[in-house]
Amino acid sequence: MFCKILLVFCLSFSCYISDANAGSSECLPRRTKYGLVCVCTATHCDYLENPQPNDNEVVVVSSSKEGLRFAVSNLRFGENSTITKSNPLGSSAEEKEEFKNAAVIVDSGQTFAQLLLNTTKILTSRLTSNGPLELQVDRSVEYQKITGFGGAVTGTVSYLLELLDQQLQDHIFKSYYHKDGLGFNLLRTPIGGCDFDMAPWAYNEEPRDDPKLSNFTKLDPHDELKVAHLKRLKSVSNLDDLKIMAAAWSPPPWMKSNGVWSGFGVLKTEYYQAWADYHLRFIELMDAKNMPIWAISTGNEPLNGIAFFFFVHFMSLGWIPKNQAIWLNDFLGPTIRNSKYKDVLIFGNDDQRFSFPTWFNRMNSTRPGVLNYLDGFAVHWYWDEVFAPSLMDLTLKQMPDKLLLNTESCIGDKPWQTHGPELGSWERGEQYAVDFLHNLKHSYNGWIDWNIILDEQGGPSYVNNTVDSPVIVNATNRAEIYKQPSFYAMGHFSKFVPEGSVRIEAQLLSLSVETVAFKRPDGRIAVVLLNSENNPVDVLLNDKDRGEVLISIPANSWHTILYT
Ligand SMILES: *[C@@H]1O[C@H](CO)[C@@H](O)[C@H](O)[C@H]1NC(C)=O
Ligand SMILES: *[C@@H]1O[C@H](CO)[C@@H](O)[C@H](O)[C@H]1NC(C)=O
Ligand SMILES: *[C@@H]1O[C@H](CO)[C@@H](O)[C@H](O)[C@H]1NC(C)=O
Ligand SMILES: *[C@@H]1O[C@H](CO)[C@@H](O)[C@H](O)[C@H]1NC(C)=O
Ligand SMILES: *[C@@H]1O[C@H](CO)[C@@H](O)[C@H](O)[C@H]1NC(C)=O
Ligand SMILES: *[C@@H]1O[C@H](CO)[C@@H](O)[C@H](O)[C@H]1NC(C)=O
Repeated sequence: MFCKILLVFCLSFSCYISDANAGSSECLPRRTKYGLVCVCTATHCDYLENPQPNDNEVVVVSSSKEGLRFAVSNLRFGENSTITKSNPLGSSAEEKEEFKNAAVIVDSGQTFAQLLLNTTKILTSRLTSNGPLELQVDRSVEYQKITGFGGAVTGTVSYLLELLDQQLQDHIFKSYYHKDGLGFNLLRTPIGGCDFDMAPWAYNEEPRDDPKLSNFTKLDPHDELKVAHLKRLKSVSNLDDLKIMAAAWSPPPWMKSNGVWSGFGVLKTEYYQAWADYHLRFIELMDAKNMPIWAISTGNEPLNGIAFFFFVHFMSLGWIPKNQAIWLNDFLGPTIRNSKYKDVLIFGNDDQRFSFPTWFNRMNSTRPGVLNYLDGFAVHWYWDEVFAPSLMDLTLKQMPDKLLLNTESCIGDKPWQTHGPELGSWERGEQYAVDFLHNLKHSYNGWIDWNIILDEQGGPSYVNNTVDSPVIVNATNRAEIYKQPSFYAMGHFSKFVPEGSVRIEAQLLSLSVETVAFKRPDGRIAVVLLNSENNPVDVLLNDKDRGEVLISIPANSWHTILYT
């Protein structure tokens, strides 16, 4: 009894003193319907101080379906070692067995995909059954530079944060943005409302037909609250350079052809300048609150208001490339570049992969030179299974000087998916891990996920557009948050691959064990390794400059291998 009290006291004490340095603490595991989550409360949350291997040391940080979450193993080059195969979270062996069974889920809608996957897995395990898989790392071959990783703070996120006490809010901020958390440095936020808010809203809804935006002179209370949260996020995460990307979903309805928030609606041409000024005004007002905007996009998912309005019932503004070229070239571009905020980056498209690179080619043929206003491309992941990443390669081949960021991802938007959390799902985490890896191998400079937190239903959303999030808040008891496997999936990249890292060559001949590697600004190498097989696998890592190390990894597991 005494021990327990002492422990709780110590943990809460360390929370108070650990604002600048969260240190390391273990996952508090809880079995759920779909798998396993790590529980955080006001007094406990899991963190990992970043390992700094030197000389011949190799550190492997591992997560597995069976229950590892950022478990650390220490190896050395020139020695053959087996990393943490056992020792998963959870207590007795009996419980572990039970958990294994509980964790096998096959969504009926995914059977076909599953069958394909199974066939691939069988094929691969046949291919690889002899000896270890060879992983070749060559740091002399360099690819793209990493801008960073992040999540989104929407109206829903602000709303949920307000339900929680300060300590739990701080754990959310630090879990994502502290270096002992996931080390995020990017953040996306809407200008005005979006589908993840309590109601649609925009600046200057009243007075109507007011191109001077006479009523857009200070931040809305929604954004006052957001700024307060972001200030706290920066201070408890010890983060000076938070890169905020802002995007608008819809202007006030009076600027639109249909006069309402959603449906088939485009910007009235007489308000092209007003809509550009609206963006600049937001940048100015945020800066005045000491919350500078790093980048804006030309608007969230422009196809929603043109092609998909039948399915999309939330705030949107439709654009076709021709009109967006005119708006960007003649209005938004000059407005930003001739202002004090000329260095704010502008990202184009902010929609699905299937519109690349055609969208930009069409813009370019309407206004030659318009693409010079763009610093980068923003793309959403939702149709990645259907449209190949080669579309992105083609886009960057045509315009090699642009950045490429994924700016939205979540699971649960498709008719065949659960429209909300599958609490603890390893499979959903694996979708994140695999897509991060594939895209980083195709020139992406970084990744911004969608809502950093949602409630147990995957909302609230004013249009009931509920989905999953890597961290789920218990809005019933307001005392717990749940870190899902997808949280750690992102962390296997973001935590160990800081801004300024460069992707390097890494090859491994297998379909279900995949890898991508980076050289970090501190000179260390970070190799991410994913095992989607239901079997353990031996991997022989061979770095031309360092030598060899044999790593035995468990079934269904993700790893980041760090060395100098
Ligand atoms: C490590 O394992 C590899 C592959 O099994 C083997 O070729 C090598 O000789 C081993 N090295 C040591 C030091 O045991
Ligand atoms: C694929 O494999 C899993 C387990 O490995 C099994 O539960 C599932 O039924 C298989 N799916 C199909 C469609 O064969
Ligand atoms: C300005 O906007 C606020 C809401 O943000 C509204 O209450 C007020 O009536 C508006 N003022 C005018 C003059 O329309
Ligand atoms: C833009 O148009 C010019 C000709 O005006 C062409 O040379 C260039 O390839 C085009 N770029 C893209 C990305 O479409
Ligand atoms: C959202 O769901 C709630 C409860 O099921 C319902 O009352 C409300 O009308 C729904 N709203 C929309 C916009 O569908
Ligand atoms: C949230 O808390 C309530 C009350 O403690 C509990 O009954 C419920 O199971 C919790 N939700 C989840 C998803 O664990």
